[in-house]
Amino acid sequence: MSVCSPVGEDWATVGDDVDSGFAKYDITKDYAWNFNHAPEPGQLNPAPVAGEWAYCGETVESPLGIAAGPLLNGQWLLYYAALGFDILTYKTVRSRERASYGLPNLQPVTWGGGAVPEELDVTAQMSGSWAVSFGMPSKPPRFWQDDVTATRSRLNKGKFLSVSVVATPEDDWSIDEVATDFAQCARWAAGCGADGVEANFSCPNVSSVDGQLFLNPTDAGIVALKLREAIPDMPLLLKVGHIDNRETAHEFLEKVAPSADALVMVNGVSARVRRPSGELLFEGRCRGIAGDAIRETALEQLALFDGLIRQFGLDVSLVGVGGLGQAADVRACLDRGCEAVQFATAAMLNPGLGLAIRRDGF
Ligand SMILES: Cc1cc2nc3c(=O)[nH]c(=O)nc-3n(C[C@H](O)[C@H](O)[C@H](O)COP(=O)(O)O)c2cc1C
Repeated sequence: MSVCSPVGEDWATVGDDVDSGFAKYDITKDYAWNFNHAPEPGQLNPAPVAGEWAYCGETVESPLGIAAGPLLNGQWLLYYAALGFDILTYKTVRSRERASYGLPNLQPVTWGGGAVPEELDVTAQMSGSWAVSFGMPSKPPRFWQDDVTATRSRLNKGKFLSVSVVATPEDDWSIDEVATDFAQCARWAAGCGADGVEANFSCPNVSSVDGQLFLNPTDAGIVALKLREAIPDMPLLLKVGHIDNRETAHEFLEKVAPSADALVMVNGVSARVRRPSGELLFEGRCRGIAGDAIRETALEQLALFDGLIRQFGLDVSLVGVGGLGQAADVRACLDRGCEAVQFATAAMLNPGLGLAIRRDGF
């Protein structure tokens, strides 16, 4: 095992307890390798989902989506589209090229139940939760724009291609400059045929202003408005991190609801990761924990936001993400006011998840 591989020994077992008949992301290999080894989309015939579904006002065939992350490029996106996911979020892109962090990019951790603690231990076997560490890499704008255009042309009606974007600020940038960079990416995404833009206001593993916007309602409002002005007629979603404070949630909603169509929550929950020796991974910096460990957090936050939206009569939709992995989770999100859901971890471990949920119903 390379010293840079995820900490543990038995990587072949990842996902063995679920339907592993489908090709999937290889966590022992880095981002670039996985980027270049996207599986071929199959000729599948996903069971239809009864009911009428919309994503930011656009008709979609189901509320089942893939979050920003697993879809590294157009080929990955088409692969999951064929597997019965109708809302496809292109992994976050930037206004300039950015390399990925090195391995481990996906480090399984142990979680003993309850809220995500400040520190978690690494584990050899993936048991449902992992620390995510990519640093939001991006291809150059021309590359991802061409890829989005080609990908959209191969997607059927009823599928929604959302491009996740983030700013790439210099240390001395003002919030207006951050907003301008976000807006540039959004305009490019719109110009190359995306159906919508998801602005990432939360990245648990970058500490710059772009990763923390969701905790600063005033700045979030400034960026959301600039994004709305950049793409006035296009669905705009904002990706939000963990907010457990009712006042911050309310203030955030009041500032961004006039500009955004929907809020997507939650991103990974920040925590540090510890080796058996006690040494901290990632130079002691936090990473976003995803998977089972954050399901309750996501559901609680959705309930909080749903209550506030109703109480204050705000016009913004919710999209659930975080630890979702079965039909009951879809139902739980819909019951908390969501119009759709997104999967990341569970759909990476079991790409057949969408087919199973469609077959079983929710
Ligand atoms: C492999 C991977 C890469 C991710 N990359 C991004 C990203 O580029 N932008 C983003 O907004 N969220 C990213 N995320 C966070 C997911 O969109 C999602 O919010 C989080 O993983 C919680 O969902 P889950 O528990 O279903 O994994 C990533 C997650 C994973 C697992």
